[in-house]
Amino acid sequence: MALRQIVTEENDLLRKVSRPVDRVDTRIQTLIDDMLQTMKASNGIGLAAVQVGVLRRLFVMDIQDGNGPYVLINPKIVASDGSQVGQEGCLSVPGIWGDVERPAHVVMQALDRGGKPFTLEAEGLLAVCACHEYDHLDGILFRDKVIGSLVKT
Ligand code: NI
Repeated sequence: MALRQIVTEENDLLRKVSRPVDRVDTRIQTLIDDMLQTMKASNGIGLAAVQVGVLRRLFVMDIQDGNGPYVLINPKIVASDGSQVGQEGCLSVPGIWGDVERPAHVVMQALDRGGKPFTLEAEGLLAVCACHEYDHLDGILFRDKVIGSLVKT
């Protein structure tokens, strides 16, 4: 495993739409392992492949809920309902925070690390994180959706 450099928002790559993963092979699994290590080292709870410079539809999450880490390859949102507003930040937008409205509950279908289909049902922080990471796959940053003012630290 190796740490990868996190791309920050000055880089246009973050605005591109990622392409699906064709095959879950050892190269993708190495990427996943590197992303998990990079996320942990940065104290993040989620990281999309584009954030380490790879334009593929894949993200990882670990919200320390005892069930993670989560790996979602080629995720699709199959249901979402309700709403919640919470403060978000992003490893690619360092030092900036802001409130974003997200679904209270989201269901995604994806492939896992082994390439097997599974369904993720998420609420609360996990739903926020999954939607934030999903947005990265379409070139969307949380700052695009901030309600009210940005907080800088
Ligand atoms: Ni982010």
